[in-house]
Amino acid sequence: MRRTLAVVVLCALVLAGAAFAGEPGFTPVEPASPNADRINDSYLWVALFTGAIFLIVQGTLVWFIVRYRADRRTREMEGAQVHGNTNLELAWTVAPVLILVAIGSFIFYKLPGIQDVPAADRVEVQVKGYRYYWNYTYPNGVIAVDTLRAPVGQTTRLQISAPDFDVIHSWWIPALGGKFDAIPGKTNETWFSPERPGTYKGQCAEFCGIQHAVMRAEVEAMPQEEFDAWLADEAEAQEAGTSDLGEETFRGACGKCHGLAGEGDIGPKLAANGLVADAEAVEQVVRNGRNQMPPVGKDWSDRQMDALTTYLKEELVGG
Ligand code: CUA
Repeated sequence: MRRTLAVVVLCALVLAGAAFAGEPGFTPVEPASPNADRINDSYLWVALFTGAIFLIVQGTLVWFIVRYRADRRTREMEGAQVHGNTNLELAWTVAPVLILVAIGSFIFYKLPGIQDVPAADRVEVQVKGYRYYWNYTYPNGVIAVDTLRAPVGQTTRLQISAPDFDVIHSWWIPALGGKFDAIPGKTNETWFSPERPGTYKGQCAEFCGIQHAVMRAEVEAMPQEEFDAWLADEAEAQEAGTSDLGEETFRGACGKCHGLAGEGDIGPKLAANGLVADAEAVEQVVRNGRNQMPPVGKDWSDRQMDALTTYLKEELVGG
């Protein structure tokens, strides 16, 4: 009996170690934005108290089990009859109040820095969640899918929503701040300011349908000059119809169900389908949906629709 228990405890300890060290483990990702830093600070502050309470409660429990076990007493023997202990009762009333005050004050102190968008220069991006991709629009009209580019050291303000014909999704890049729902007909606001260049990964955090699991998001943080240059070049390329927007849109909006090479998966095979080269037929299906397929591009701009139909004609059908 004791040996079994020892083995179980040992296994639990070994697994806990792996879970904490692993990637992804139980510990939060390394924050990379001031609001995420503050969320992480709050997490650590609360964990300090809950960790201590866990150790005190479990430690006392184990100690009592060992110290006061029945031993040689018979089943009928009654224990000592205890009626109240004023000091103990005061302690377990006052201590939790103090702990809640400590947690509450710390959180309220940190909250404005998490929630309030810094007023300084910022990039504004519209984020819209669709089944099963993210569509971003920059103020100069540039459109991007799933991968959002942003400058390091500058605030990017996100206005998050979903079109009224879609469902609720949830925007979450853990290293860059909290989770915000993308709700049809409602706009939520959040922000981030990447502290260093890098690619920060996220995942739609609201179950939204069959391909929810592959509805990933990514923020690519790059130096300011590089970002400005990209945004300007991309605007020109998208206006001229020479950008990668078509491919990006295909990967995000079509490929997740029809296969990245159009080989078919959840949705039918597209690669050998003659209809795919017919821009009007494609637009018809994309705007209205068909059978199980949602109207993934019902409210797309002509720019995005043209980019997709051109990509399909030239790349997928091999015209
Ligand atoms: Cu979108 Cu889950």
